[in-house]
Amino acid sequence: MNSTELDRAYVWHPFTPAESWFDPNFKPVMIASGRGSVLLDEEGNAYLDGNSSIWTNMHGHNHPVIKQAIKDQLDILEHSSYLGAGHAPGSQLAEKLAKLAGPDKYRVFYSDDGATAIEAAVKIAIQYFHQIGEPQRDVFISLGDGYHGDTVGAMSVGHSSYHTGFFSSLMFKSDRVLQPGCYHCPFNQALPERADARTYRHCQWQCITALEEALKKHGDKAAAIVMEPHIQGAAGMVMQPEGYLAKAAQLAKKYGALFILDEVMTGFGRTGKMFAADHDGVKADFIALAKGITGGYLPLGATLIREEIFESFRGPIQNTFYHGHSYCGNQLGCAAALANLQVFETENTLQTINERAAQLRQLTQIFWQHPNVGDIRQEGLVLGIELVEDFATRKPFPFERRIAYHVSERARKYGLLARGAGNVLILMPPYSTTAEQLEKMVSALYRGLSETLPA
Ligand SMILES: Cc1ncc(COP(=O)(O)O)c(C=O)c1O
Repeated sequence: MNSTELDRAYVWHPFTPAESWFDPNFKPVMIASGRGSVLLDEEGNAYLDGNSSIWTNMHGHNHPVIKQAIKDQLDILEHSSYLGAGHAPGSQLAEKLAKLAGPDKYRVFYSDDGATAIEAAVKIAIQYFHQIGEPQRDVFISLGDGYHGDTVGAMSVGHSSYHTGFFSSLMFKSDRVLQPGCYHCPFNQALPERADARTYRHCQWQCITALEEALKKHGDKAAAIVMEPHIQGAAGMVMQPEGYLAKAAQLAKKYGALFILDEVMTGFGRTGKMFAADHDGVKADFIALAKGITGGYLPLGATLIREEIFESFRGPIQNTFYHGHSYCGNQLGCAAALANLQVFETENTLQTINERAAQLRQLTQIFWQHPNVGDIRQEGLVLGIELVEDFATRKPFPFERRIAYHVSERARKYGLLARGAGNVLILMPPYSTTAEQLEKMVSALYRGLSETLPA
């Protein structure tokens, strides 16, 4: 059997309708290699990696510095347990991450991916409140349609019914507050113009009022607010109005709740700064990191925790955090993450991101010509284009039409690998993408749209 046949026979793919795999007309892309922003399949077809390999890849594939760092570490040691023992790559990376998040002092707890980075934050928060004599604080408050990963704790602080439908009986309750997304906001129904909905916001900050009301309702039971800062990714690149994050952080402080930021998608430059919260000078109590932490080369998660919270875990043995994973702090992952940060400095990546982002903003104006485009949202190198059946009423396409999926499939014919969410087309290119490649990505996506939904 060739690799496609073996795949069909033995593999189960994440977030992929199983039946599509058995459709004789469906031909899965079998990736063979990659360089920069290009992936090549087994037949030699080239694709631009328009979703940065599910939002993980930062500086492109096969980057010599990251590759070499992994090889060098492999010559020394692949992995040793982090339970009660340390190593240089782990210590050095922790210092760098803590300093990036500083000047406040943070401590780093390593895990494997985004979901486990959130899971650790949730559990540390609960144990912390026990240790400081406030065990009643066990309610998490999080945003409508929020997504934090697929483990049970991460699902519980999320509100994406599409991801959690069958599993609600397993999940603990968390309070869901109004999603701060201007395009869908019931309080922002002013006359639509063809512009990012955030620019014609006419509300009275009802999303912030809702958050404050939840905090008041739960009083001294509120443990933490959990949110994706600036952009709710899996919800369809739902972007928050400017100022929301700072207001939310102030409320958490006012009501004694911890503030947990999920920078799994937004971290490492995506929004034009190292972390999305840097735009607002917000310092969270917990910062969950994964995806781009290794530049997209190896799985690694990290939870940054304020030192004051860590302090409560000192003292008697009962205060030990009995939580971890076999591969916590894996040396190869830490070496890749250190190299990722080094490339940010040596290649002045933040500047490139902002230049490409400005170009992307110009290129995507063409989408306004399409009658089914309802909203175009962009921050840094994150683009979400929301498709609607009717522009004036913002009527969505039915979920079953999988409209963003079909547009992305069409765009594949023109050399783009992209993956949307529901009715939202998404582009999230690696930072290595050249100006010419970016043009090709946008053009392929637009052709995909025009052919799927002829105007
Ligand atoms: C904001 C956010 N948090 C957490 C996760 C989960 O990360 P992982 O898939 O690495 O578990 C994701 C994944 O898309 C995410 O976008």
